[in-house]
This record gives sequence, C-alpha cells and structure tokens, in this order.
Amino acid sequence: MNRAIPDEIVEDVRNRTNIVDLIGSYISLKRGGNGVYKGLCPFHNEKTPSFVVNEHRQHYHCFGCGKGGDIFSFVMEKENVDFPEAIHLLAARCNVIIPEKTIGNGQKSKEIQDRKSRLFNLMEQFTRFFENSLYQANGKIALEYLYKRGIDDETIKKFRIGYAPDDWQACVNFAKSLGYSEAEAVETGTVRVSEKSGKLYDHFKGRLMFSIWDGQGRVVGFSGRTLDAEAKVAKYVNTAETVLFKKSQLLYALPFARSAMGKNKMAILCEGQLDVIAMHRANYECAVAPQGTAFTLEQAQILRRSTQKILLGFDSDNAGQNAILRAIEILLPLDFDIRVIKFPGGKDPDELFRNQGKEPIAQAVNNSIDWLEFFFDYSKRSFNFENPGDLNQVILNLVRLLGLIKSSVAAELYLKKASELSGVSYEAIKNEYNKVVRENERKSNALSVANEVKVNPAAKVEKKFYPSELVLLELAINSENAARNIVDLLNPEYLSDSAVSKVLNAVLDTILTEEYSLNNNIKILTELNRELREVEIDKLLVQSACSYSENQFEKIIGDCIKDLTERYRKNDFAKRLNEMKLQNSNNQEDQIKMLEALLKGKK
Ligand code: CTP
Ligand code: MN
Repeated sequence: MNRAIPDEIVEDVRNRTNIVDLIGSYISLKRGGNGVYKGLCPFHNEKTPSFVVNEHRQHYHCFGCGKGGDIFSFVMEKENVDFPEAIHLLAARCNVIIPEKTIGNGQKSKEIQDRKSRLFNLMEQFTRFFENSLYQANGKIALEYLYKRGIDDETIKKFRIGYAPDDWQACVNFAKSLGYSEAEAVETGTVRVSEKSGKLYDHFKGRLMFSIWDGQGRVVGFSGRTLDAEAKVAKYVNTAETVLFKKSQLLYALPFARSAMGKNKMAILCEGQLDVIAMHRANYECAVAPQGTAFTLEQAQILRRSTQKILLGFDSDNAGQNAILRAIEILLPLDFDIRVIKFPGGKDPDELFRNQGKEPIAQAVNNSIDWLEFFFDYSKRSFNFENPGDLNQVILNLVRLLGLIKSSVAAELYLKKASELSGVSYEAIKNEYNKVVRENERKSNALSVANEVKVNPAAKVEKKFYPSELVLLELAINSENAARNIVDLLNPEYLSDSAVSKVLNAVLDTILTEEYSLNNNIKILTELNRELREVEIDKLLVQSACSYSENQFEKIIGDCIKDLTERYRKNDFAKRLNEMKLQNSNNQEDQIKMLEALLKGKK
C-alpha cells in the first residue's frame, strides 16, 4: 500500500468525510435502521437495491456484484484512480490540505502530481499576469470600469482581480516564455486550440478577470466579464472543466468564507462573483457563489460541513427567484436551516451595496425570511390563492418540498406553519404530505436492511477461507471478550492463508498490544481489505451488529476452533502422506508404517 501521504492526513480526510454523504452524492440512498442505507449499486446495473452503506462503520458493500470498501476504495473504483489520488480527491472535497512534499511515491501518482503542480504554477503565473495587466496602460479601461463599480484597489488585490489583454496571443506567448508546453497551456483552459486551424489562442480576451480558487486558495480557473455593455459576446466567459477546475465542486471565495461561516454560524449563497465581493465588503465574509453553473449538491455538501444555516442572497429577477427554489430543493434533504434574503433597493447585493453601502445589506440579512415564507411569496406571483385550483396546486408543490425534509420534527413544524400561511387545514396538508412520503418510500424501494438482500450467486467469488474463520472474525471484531477467548484457544497455525485469516490475525494482535477497540478493528478490516479484496470482509463491515448473541459466543468459538483444528490435522496428514508417496511411491509397506506413525503422533 502506498503510505507516502502521512497517516494523519488520511485520518483527517476520513474523519471529515461521511461515507453516506459521499456515496449519496453519486447515488440516492434510502435510510434503513441502525445507520444502514441502501440504494442501487453504482458499479453494476440493477433494478432492486442490493448496495448497502453502513454509516457507523463507514463502509459499503454490494450484495449483487460483491464490490465493497471504505470512502477511499469507493473513490478509487468510481473515479478510476489509485489510492493516493483518491486521497487527493477526497481531501479537496473536505478541504484538507496535503503538504506539497508528501506526495505519493508511486510512480504514477507522482507523475500526476508533478503534472498538476506545474498546472497550478502556470495558473498562478496567469493570475499574476492578469493582475499586472490591470495596472498597465492597456488595462486602464478595466481598472476604470472597476472603480466605476465602486471596487477599490484593496478589494482588487484581495480577490486577485485582473485584466486579460485584448490580444489573441497574450497568454499563449506568456506561457511559452515561461517554458511551459503548448499542451500544458491548453490543459489549464486559459489557452485553447482552434478547431479550424489547430492554432492556439487565448480563451479570455479583453475581459475583466476574476480568479477562482479551490478550497486551498489555489487559482484553478477564471471567470472573465466583458467590459463592453453593448457587446454581442457572452457577459461572462468561464474556464471550461479541466483537471484543476471542477465547477460543480467549487464555490467562489470559499477560502475566506470557510472561517467566517464558523464565526457567523451561517453561509450566504449569492449568484455571482460581484455579489460575493459586495457581501464580503459589507462584513459578510461567509458569502460564496457557485461557479457559473446552477448550485450543486456537491457544493451544498461542502457548505454543510461548515454550517447548518444558509441564507440565499440571489437576484430579485425571475432567474434569481427560480434559482432560489432549485437551491431549496437541493438544501432541504441536507437538513439545512434555509432562509432567503430580499434586497430592496437593488436587484442584487452588488447593486444594493454600490448604491447604499453596508447598512442596508446588514438590514437585508437581518430581515431574511424562512424558506417557507419565500415559497408562498413566490407562488403568489404565478398563482391566485383565491382560486381553489391554484391553491391546490401550490399545496401540492409545497408537500413535494416538505417530503424532502429528513427530520420529522422539522417537517411537522413546517406543516403547521404552512397551514397558517395558506389557510388550508393542517390535516388536509398533512394528508397530501403523507402521500408524498409514502410515494417516496415506494420509489426508493423501501426494502429491507442489509440481511434481507438476496445474494446474486453468479457474483459469488470462490471462497479460499474456511467458514469457521469468518465466524471467528465476526466475533472477534464485535466483542473484546470473544477476541480474548480466541487468542487463548486458537493456534494461529491452524488458520488458512486466506484474507479472512490475515485480518483475523491482525485483529487478534490488538488484544496482545492492548489496542483493541471497535473503531480500531474497523480500521484494520478496512485498510487490510483494500488490498485483500475479500467480499465477505466487506459484508461484515456493513452489518449493523453481530449475527450471534453473546451467550452463544463460547460454544461457537469452541466449535470453530475444533473445526479448524480438524481441518489442519487432515490437511497436514494428507500433506505428509503425499510427501511420503513422493519419496518412495512403490513401497507399500513403508507407506503403511509411516501412516501408522503419523496417526500415533497426532493422537
Ligand atoms: N454567469 C456566467 N455566464 C453568463 C452569465 C452569468 O457564468 N453568461 C455567472 C457568473 O458567474 C456571474 C453569475 O452567473 O457572476 C451571475 O450572473 P449575473 O447576475 O448576470 O452577473 P452579475 O454578478 O450581476 O454581474 P454584473 O453585476 O456585472 O452584471
Ligand atoms: Mn447579478
């Protein structure tokens, strides 16, 4: 296993990542009892869910195709990357910083890392190039535009705003002058290849440049605003997806916002860079914005790690209001406390701040309304509440949203409030709500928890371990007493060479080193099994409890050990017999003698 990334980092990533969130961002998971979730397997095609995730043990297993493991193996499998790369991906996701020097020593990951770090460096150079250009003669038009919009030098510096010269080759030549290859320049997304001529040209030309950072504050992309209000070109041009720039996972100004979210106990979600900048200048550094795309579940999950409360500060135009509703749909299942900010006196935070400064922004934030109130305000614009058909439709829309809420307490409170706000009786709304909940349950297939899942026989792998070994392992991981008993009674020689035995031995070792704990056991199973890939071990990890009851332990351990002992003796006997046969295959008399000797010795 590649352990070049320090254990603390791996542990940090593990602690900050909830496997249910992680896998939940790929597939939809249905909550069962005891921290067990189920869904359709992302690794093979199936119609009924046999994919199980155990939240307590941070493990998954598919009873259909046999794949299983922890957060790291999930990402390795799903993103087709090696272990170090999976750590990097997960680290980026939960904002853990991996020190540059401790990059994986595997040849492949080192290459990837070298390549990436060159791209990061090139992006940094481009950023400086744009920052400098803003203060050159040809950048005057951009600088004046910024000043006109009330953005001062301090803000320009803090947010690393720049200017891309009005020249098709500025970045192309700049990258080459620094010794970067054409391929590298293209890979950053800042330079593109013409489909017609095959020649390189700058993606951003004559634009105001906002640098976009990842969670660690490294520039990974740009958003370029046109300076020409009348222009027929796109208002904003963004870096396309690159190895560094993953739009759906980035939030504008996140490195600043992250600590502020802790302090302010909330996040503010805006629509654009200029809105975020305005909010920060108005002392709300907890503001972020998605990156030129609609707000995504991944972005919501990033925010959820830092805060439970979120204020939506979108534009007051139609597009903005519709976007609020979509954001609410994404946020509700994550148990966010969602509020909506109105910006009277401006279409967005940027305009309000520019026109009237900090005070009205603070007022707007303090006067934010609960999402449910927003929902009714919003609905009133397209529905006439006096009209029963309209009101009915509104309530149907509402219960669909309420059905997304996980907490039944929150759902109940919202049902009551919805009745007050709509004038429709609580019972009637609750009835419709119940229908939605049942329908949701039916859709996600309710089904049972792990043990009822049918095993697909075709997917069964050949077992190289003895059943008794697996039983002992199950007991050993679940009970310290059982583990002690096994250590006392079992001769390790009697175990096979299977993956199960290896893991069992490692768990039993913790009794001897006094490091025994359930958590530690799970860690051992998980880490060892990443290499050993024994399906049955993964299954143990998604179980919610031991399948045997405590008062049976002693008998079961006794039986298992007896079984293993007999197996060992039989095998050993057969092996010796074989050896003898090989030595003097023709001498029957000798064989019998030896056999007798063997039997005696073993009794
Ligand atoms: N956006 C984009 N592509 C566009 C338009 C918008 O990527 N063609 C993204 C940008 O990230 C932008 C955000 O959507 O910041 C919000 O767009 P908009 O409200 O039009 O921009 P504002 O932030 O209001 O910018 P401005 O005040 O300069 O008009
Ligand atoms: Mn706007």
